[in-house]
Amino acid sequence: MLTHHEVDYVPPLAEGASKNDRYIELRRYVLALVAGETDWLANLANVAGAVFEHVPGLNWAGFYLMKGGELVLGPFQGRPACVRIAVGRGVCGAAVAERRTQVVPDVTAFPGHIACDARSRSEIVVPIVVDGQVVGVLDLDSARVANFDIEDRRALETIVKDITPVVDWRAATRGD
Ligand code: SME
Repeated sequence: MLTHHEVDYVPPLAEGASKNDRYIELRRYVLALVAGETDWLANLANVAGAVFEHVPGLNWAGFYLMKGGELVLGPFQGRPACVRIAVGRGVCGAAVAERRTQVVPDVTAFPGHIACDARSRSEIVVPIVVDGQVVGVLDLDSARVANFDIEDRRALETIVKDITPVVDWRAATRGD
């Protein structure tokens, strides 16, 4: 059995670092944080914390989990947020319905966007798919317009793929 080791805090790279280098650092940090740990809540909480610290310009970063056919708020960093989101509603619900990452450069132009935090101007939502089923989403919000592009999409999808096998999604999506 793997034993968990405490991981030292890794600060974000200095201003001027490339997006690519930032995501390489974040990916390494996330892998270290979840290595050998099986508790889904601890792992998702630490991933939300690492993403929030390392991706520039965020006002919110975290997870929604599929429970009883709808998204329910999971571990996050930022202001308290909407608790339940129906499939197909808002950017998160669209990511689930389409099973596809949503990159929204201007949330005011997205029909049905749910404004949990009035500061949010752009958003990226990556669905988490296990055995063909969406078990949740990773949602990042920014107060800057167009804070996310194809590079964020690729990198965040890679991070989601990295953590998918190490999280107990059955426990994470239980309704009780
Ligand atoms: N804006 C999201 C809702 C979640 S919050 O931003 C944290 C949406 O439209 O799905």
